[in-house]
Amino acid sequence: MDDLKAKYLDAIGVAPDENALEELRVQAVGKKGEISLRMRELGKMTPEERQTAGPALNALKDEINSALAAKKAALSDAALDERLKTEWLDVTLPARDRRLGTVHPVSQVWEECTAIFADMGFAVSEGPQVEDAWYNFDALNIPGHHPARAEMDTFYMHRAEGDDRPPHVLRTHTSPVQIRAMQAQGAPIRTISPGRVYRADYDQTHTPMFHQVEGLAIDRDISMANLKWVLEEFFTAYFGRTVKTRFRASHFPFTEPSAEVDIQCSWEGGTVKVGEGDDWLEVLGSGMVHPKVLSAAGVDPAEWQGFAFGMGIDRIAMLKYGIPDLRAFFDSDLRWLRHYGFSALQVPTIRGGV
Ligand code: DAH
Repeated sequence: MDDLKAKYLDAIGVAPDENALEELRVQAVGKKGEISLRMRELGKMTPEERQTAGPALNALKDEINSALAAKKAALSDAALDERLKTEWLDVTLPARDRRLGTVHPVSQVWEECTAIFADMGFAVSEGPQVEDAWYNFDALNIPGHHPARAEMDTFYMHRAEGDDRPPHVLRTHTSPVQIRAMQAQGAPIRTISPGRVYRADYDQTHTPMFHQVEGLAIDRDISMANLKWVLEEFFTAYFGRTVKTRFRASHFPFTEPSAEVDIQCSWEGGTVKVGEGDDWLEVLGSGMVHPKVLSAAGVDPAEWQGFAFGMGIDRIAMLKYGIPDLRAFFDSDLRWLRHYGFSALQVPTIRGGV
């Protein structure tokens, strides 16, 4: 027994690597190993012999197993030491270049609008892009036969065969959110609703999906004068300079009276500059919310009145950041996105001049 012990402990002590250790383990305590064979012979012994040989063999097996484990740990420590001696890192090297994404101009302008109107007490409200025709049209005083429905180039979401309910539409404007906001909050209310809208249209200034921001202010005594002040305040903050506006009488089914609003611009040198020159550029539709619209949204027109407007986000983004073609907004061309995109750290605030 002592010979066996000395033989294996010595061999383990000088084993050069894990493979050699494994071989020794199999030889000594593996199923057919030397110790295991000896244990099998216990059966042939007299009970007295067995009483001393049994525990001795077990103790030897334990001793060899722990010697194997200790040597294995020592070998891997030594291997790690060896690696640490040869491998090294220069932690003073500059970090690897990492490409950061950019904030899309539409998202940036969306946030700019939100910041400016928030400063004037407007909260943000949202509605679905797949909208009930009732919200998109009827509640806004655009009945089924009204030409405005046809003019809008609406995308209809047809129902399954046999489902006779009227089709949903992809909302053609953000105005249905006015109705939803008034239904949810009643009056008084001051809210803007930025969002995606859809129309079947495609050229340099039209894409089938684009963005609008709707504005709504209802109280007991809100007038066109308040509308004019709010919009002029907005344009001045947004463009960072005083911008003259021009209100032109117009017609929308959901407002009475209605006005389209132009901002002052110049086309000198072939590019548009806002806030100078004597040309005009249309940027939004607006007016006093029609009594029928208030009623449809559950607000009593005998008690409440106010203004609404709808403005193209992409349009004002093009004007502020000098982007000539609307279609490029939605091409996902990385070069375009890197050129016109914003750093995520450029968070628009009133203090920062949005
Ligand atoms: N919804 C209109 C459009 O998409 C824009 C608009 C005009 C919105 C007048 C309004 C409004 O809220 O009062 O062309």
